[in-house]
Amino acid sequence: MDICFRLNGEPVRLTRVSPTDTLLDWLRDRRGLTGTKEGCNEGDCGACTVMVTDARGARALNACILFLPQLHGRAVRTVEGIAGPDGTLHPVQRAMIAHHGSQCGFCTPGFIVSMAVAHFNGEREFDTALAGNLCRCTGYAPIIRAAEAASQEPVPDWLREDTSFFWPEISSGGGAEGGGGQTAPLLPDTSDALAALLERSPDTVLIAGATDVGLWVTKQLRELKPVAFLHRCADLQRIEETDAGLRVGAGVTLDRLHDAMVPRHPSFAAMIRRYGAAQVRAAATIGGNIANGSPIGDGPPALIALGATLHLRKGDTRRTMPLEDFFLDYGRQDRVAGEFVEAVTIPAQPDRLRCYKLSKRFDQDISAVCGCFSITVEDGTVAAARIAFGGMAGIPKRAAHVEAAIVGQPWSAATIAAAAPEWERDFTPLSDMRASARYRLATARNMLSRYFHEDQGTPASVQELRA
Ligand SMILES: Cc1cc2nc3c(=O)[nH]c(=O)nc-3n(C[C@H](O)[C@H](O)[C@H](O)COP(=O)(O)OP(=O)(O)OC[C@H]3O[C@@H](n4cnc5c(N)ncnc54)[C@H](O)[C@@H]3O)c2cc1C
Ligand code: FES
Ligand code: FES
Repeated sequence: MDICFRLNGEPVRLTRVSPTDTLLDWLRDRRGLTGTKEGCNEGDCGACTVMVTDARGARALNACILFLPQLHGRAVRTVEGIAGPDGTLHPVQRAMIAHHGSQCGFCTPGFIVSMAVAHFNGEREFDTALAGNLCRCTGYAPIIRAAEAASQEPVPDWLREDTSFFWPEISSGGGAEGGGGQTAPLLPDTSDALAALLERSPDTVLIAGATDVGLWVTKQLRELKPVAFLHRCADLQRIEETDAGLRVGAGVTLDRLHDAMVPRHPSFAAMIRRYGAAQVRAAATIGGNIANGSPIGDGPPALIALGATLHLRKGDTRRTMPLEDFFLDYGRQDRVAGEFVEAVTIPAQPDRLRCYKLSKRFDQDISAVCGCFSITVEDGTVAAARIAFGGMAGIPKRAAHVEAAIVGQPWSAATIAAAAPEWERDFTPLSDMRASARYRLATARNMLSRYFHEDQGTPASVQELRA
């Protein structure tokens, strides 16, 4: 099938697309749009940031891990398209000049695009909006000042045009040969179509946000075929209240999950705020974060602590399980060929959740340890406890012995101290570049104390503590 999108205001139709050609390579090698830079080629530096607009609005995405079929039906702006067609600079471009926000020119295009997206969306949290853009020379202060100055000005008309972009002829599916000898990308637009496709071809590699799969291609140079893209399955993107709780579709991106968690479980939302950066959260899905089975993913520990249920589907057959049962062993999940993650349900409950993400950098870093706690206390006694960790085992895992040691005991520092030996029964963590095994165990123990002290009203966030 053809891939159609709008690029800097002009329609583009691509035939014989290789499904794993990245937007970054295509822009630079085929279109000569070299303003979009290649820095890390793995989603970390923001030099390749582009603005992508569809019915849900505008967001910043990393072009280096964005495959061309993911653009089907969307509008893209590179740094060359941020200024007006007559060359009029965008307010953020003028402000960057006025505030001396640029030196090397390598990171600046990515900053300009992220700033234009923040400006478009009326976003004022510039530290958050720009956390995925690295600058090593100018420093962030002039850039933030420029973003603040530009925020007073209106969004230019030429950017607004992208929101009304619509391709009536766009279809989904297709099985013709794609470019590069690969099977054409498949773009199912419902989970029924996806289920049928997987019945026919169970070995199809699913691509949701491509924040993992993108690196298989750019770093591991893997050839993937056949592939199917999930981002057009609108029913996988629903967030709905059900009798069982909040059902979150597998295709819900982390930025949308963040917004859903703010009123329900603010500590989970605060942790998601540190999950990758804006460009990653706008692409990454909760389904991908679960299905990849990573032992250091941040979503699963929080969801397990909340008692979430996983929904899997193969053909017309559906099954559910407690999320923790999905993770069998390192690299092994309870999922058969042709089965996919449909959703996860978070039971309604009073908010007792606290999530502690420990990483070397505050922003845009993978967790060394991610501990999530939900402990219910009744009349001074621990009535129930769900404690789950990432980074402590080959899978996201509950601290079952610690939980058993504190349930039924007084909610006190003494109970926590008495449970200390249980941590080693639950976890035998590894030492790696992120942390040593000893450090991981010590910090996991300390997180339970932190939870207790926070629960007693003691400020425990390093960002809130003042000498
Ligand atoms: C710069 C950067 C920073 C990151 N920071 C973090 C972080 O702070 N915390 C964190 O947890 N992760 C982080 N990640 C990892 C990544 O963002 C997550 O694992 C993400 O949730 C994956 O989701 P995705 O939609 O991009 O999955 P994809 O890359 O599209 O897919 C991942 C895997 O899941 C499978 N899959 C996807 N959807 C389904 C489905 N519905 N059913 C079955 N299988 C499916 C795919 O086939 C593939 O095997 C980071 C990644 C990058 C590049
Ligand atoms: S090149 Fe670094 S995020 Fe894309
Ligand atoms: S202006 Fe490029 S690294 Fe700072």
